[in-house]
Amino acid sequence: MTYPESLPLYSGRLPVRQGNLPDFPRDPLACMRSLHSEFGDLAVIEDQGKRITFVFSPEYNRQVLSDSQTFHSQFFAIRGGRRSAQRRVTSGLLSMNGAEHRDNRRVMMDVFSRRILPEYHSVICDLTQDFMSDWTVGQQRDLNTEMVNFMVRMTSALLFGIDDAHYALELGSMIDHWVRQNHEVGMGALVSAPQFTENYEKLLTDAEKLEASVQELIAAHKSQQSATNRSDVLSLMFQAQKTNEQLTDEKLVGHATLTFAAAHLTTAHTLSWTLFLLAQHPQVMDRLALELAEGTSGPYPTFDELESLTYLEWVIKESMRVLPASSYSQRVCAEPAQLGPLSLPAGTPVIFSQYLTHHRPDLFEAPDEFRPERWADISPSAYEYLPFGAGPRMCIGAPLAMVELRTSLAVMLKRFHFQMIPNSVVDGQIISTMLGPTSSVKANLLETSDSPQTVPVTGSIHSLVKLPDTARAATHERAA
Ligand code: HEM
Repeated sequence: MTYPESLPLYSGRLPVRQGNLPDFPRDPLACMRSLHSEFGDLAVIEDQGKRITFVFSPEYNRQVLSDSQTFHSQFFAIRGGRRSAQRRVTSGLLSMNGAEHRDNRRVMMDVFSRRILPEYHSVICDLTQDFMSDWTVGQQRDLNTEMVNFMVRMTSALLFGIDDAHYALELGSMIDHWVRQNHEVGMGALVSAPQFTENYEKLLTDAEKLEASVQELIAAHKSQQSATNRSDVLSLMFQAQKTNEQLTDEKLVGHATLTFAAAHLTTAHTLSWTLFLLAQHPQVMDRLALELAEGTSGPYPTFDELESLTYLEWVIKESMRVLPASSYSQRVCAEPAQLGPLSLPAGTPVIFSQYLTHHRPDLFEAPDEFRPERWADISPSAYEYLPFGAGPRMCIGAPLAMVELRTSLAVMLKRFHFQMIPNSVVDGQIISTMLGPTSSVKANLLETSDSPQTVPVTGSIHSLVKLPDTARAATHERAA
């Protein structure tokens, strides 16, 4: 492991900052960057006896992520009482640990098996085509809103077999709102500040409403089972129930809710960022357009054709490196642990960050730049490049997510190219562990015979990725 010269190594001084813990939830990226540049690969914020530990290197990522016995997942810090709806809707893989996690993950691995991916491919093609049916060349669209709506529909269809767009949006926004509340109030459990805990009761009430909706969905779906032969994820979970009595209806509520929560915004943000980066890097877009033209025969790439689109794969990988939708996650020490010079008592939260790891200059040359070509020459380890996490809790939906991303991007880019609106504002921020656009991402739809041009944009995007010089607006220079 090599260390960048600019970062300090330990010299007997513990990497502990006496600080304000709420700085972290307020602006996770700014906080992690400043800790990384001050302390290097391992850092701690301490505030009135409470500590959060941060790891920023592949080696520490490995130590934390590969040892799921010592470092437990605690994606939802607020679990509610034993019999509460909050406890039940948070009872999915993301919250489980030990044998419970291992057993449930085994069941879910079957549900997400690679075997069924080809079946999803045609659904994804049809949905993408349908979603674009009212798009026309010359129109302006907000890619952020479009991609969130698109992925809510896609996720509802693939997970629950829902083809009602209105219902899908309602369920999606209910789940998003609840996840966001969890992180606000959950940070309160981590950092105990009144502004984070005052919504505790509201969170529990909203969990009851969410549970009722998911239960209704499951009951309706179950009643249609005998009449249809469906291959959405929920149908596969019903089949798994037949051979696994531990997978009760109550467990299904937790799995269904958390899988939906884990699946749709991550893919939506990845799509928005990828389309934005392609629009601002015309040479990349041209090379991709050529690959799509030569490597696919009809308006839909076949499943086999998709497998051979290497450059598309690099574009997606690079987009997820430079702007990873999942930008950090956390564990909590289930028992005392040693990380480098630090002895961590049980209960200490530990944060790892995809964004910080992916932007290390010792791992990736010019790490802030979007350069898909780099993937011809690099093969980072699982703990150096980890958009889907790593170790025994790595994203179970990663193969499905990659099929969704590759298929929908290929279908979209065979119909339209995208041109950013000059001088528009593009902001991005981490909210509830996810890095997504927090402003509109306004683009014009072009013919596929047209190449986009790099245009100046303003906003916090410039602090997240280094765009070509022509993408820097004069106003941004002043604001920076
Ligand atoms: C681009 C899209 C996606 C990204 C970037 C992503 C990222 C991640 C990451 C980083 C983790 C690990 C979190 C941790 O270690 O704390 C994770 C876990 C998980 N993801 Fe994804 N995910 C994506 C799509 C999906 C999809 C499509 C599904 C399901 C349909 C899904 C379901 C899950 C589940 C159930 C877990 C928990 C696994 C466990 O704890 O064993 N994700 N995801």
